[in-house]
Amino acid sequence: MKSDTAGSRVISAAISTGLPPRPTTGRATSKRAGDIRWRMSDAPRQENIGNAKLKEVYRKGMLEDETPDLPTSFEDIRDAAWENMSEEGRAYVHGGAGSDETFERNKDFSNYRIVPRMLRGVAERDLSVELLGEELDWPVMITPLGVQTLLHDDAELGTAAAAEELNVPLCLSSLSSTPMEEVAEAMPTTPKWFQFYWSSDRDVARSFLHRAEEAGYDAIVLTVDAPTLGWRERLIDRGYYPFMAGEGVANYFSDPAFRDSLAEPPEENPDAAVDHFLDIFGDSSLTWDDLSFVFENTDLPVVIKGVLHPEDARLAIEHGAAAVDVSTHGGRQVDGSISAIEALPDVVDEVDGEVPVMFDSGVRRASDAFKAMALGADTVMLGRPYAYGLAMAGQRGVRHVVENFLAEFDLTMGLAGCSNVDEIGRDRLKHEREL
Ligand code: FNR
Repeated sequence: MKSDTAGSRVISAAISTGLPPRPTTGRATSKRAGDIRWRMSDAPRQENIGNAKLKEVYRKGMLEDETPDLPTSFEDIRDAAWENMSEEGRAYVHGGAGSDETFERNKDFSNYRIVPRMLRGVAERDLSVELLGEELDWPVMITPLGVQTLLHDDAELGTAAAAEELNVPLCLSSLSSTPMEEVAEAMPTTPKWFQFYWSSDRDVARSFLHRAEEAGYDAIVLTVDAPTLGWRERLIDRGYYPFMAGEGVANYFSDPAFRDSLAEPPEENPDAAVDHFLDIFGDSSLTWDDLSFVFENTDLPVVIKGVLHPEDARLAIEHGAAAVDVSTHGGRQVDGSISAIEALPDVVDEVDGEVPVMFDSGVRRASDAFKAMALGADTVMLGRPYAYGLAMAGQRGVRHVVENFLAEFDLTMGLAGCSNVDEIGRDRLKHEREL
């Protein structure tokens, strides 16, 4: 699918209703605004998402005196989200493990500089990528992020609805506040993946894998960087662990195998159900050989999330991974670890195109995603930006953040001289040491 087509479908769904009526002359009216004479051509062809987005915003601003009611920059969105969040919610989402060293370094993509190329004919830009046999409109996905009730009442259903509106694939966390089947129903047409946290009770683990497949998820994402809890000082200061308050356990409380192992159902004895969840959550004894359990219990492709060492990428491939995701879990696990962008090039070189390489951790703006893709990532996952969008304005906030991200990515691609994602290669980057 060409992005022009893909983009146009999304654009018309996304913004056409917000535009002023089409002028019959084919040219928009011009308007005097300060010293600027503003004139918009109303080109008949469908536009790239970046151009269409800017046209919508500037038209509304200049012709209708209407400015966006939600902020644009990541920092302003985070600040707006902050206002709406509880202390606990802030402590859960913000920051990383320990001193935040990795959390902070994750966000620093500045060692890599984009080297744009000129006059490359970038009028029609194709943002589509092929991933696990599916043609996706965009090289961007939504990361698994647990306990979204802490962010907004819309929670995972709001995020899913926004993803569906934009046709951006979503990966749902095992620690969702909404059962996986309900989230799947909110995404009838857009690819959706299920992030799998292992339970030491193998019946529950097996049941999760079966339920995800039955509910229509397209892949299992096995997160391997969380064999135990991370040292998260903000949560420790508050003695706060959301799961003990019964948050983020909907997939467990609704699970037949989990329920079978309780003396009383969670509705009657939630404390005992939470205790049992805490007993079975995770399994730090796992080794690569245990992966066979996942493959025996699902026909879906399995993506390994949380790879930082090239040899782990190799092991993931040898054990059957359909893709690997380079991630530091947003800096929430190993304080002081290599950042995701620092780890990416060696993993890409080791994988050498055998399976797709995905990337997350630290992506805040489109240039970050562009740099990760130039280093060889096939797709990029967006984390905290959409989390703050959700906290700021629910489903609409997620849509706002993700749509703007796609628009900025499209423009960055064009300005760097790329008309499709395959052209985003290492020749478009220079490392600081090469300058
Ligand atoms: C996460 N992440 C995560 N990952 C996962 O595999 N399962 C999960 O349940 C969660 N939950 C979660 C909650 C919160 C609040 C955050 C911030 C992150 C990690 C997530 O998928 C992703 O790797 C990071 O969010 C990427 O880092 P940035 O870009 O958000 O800083």
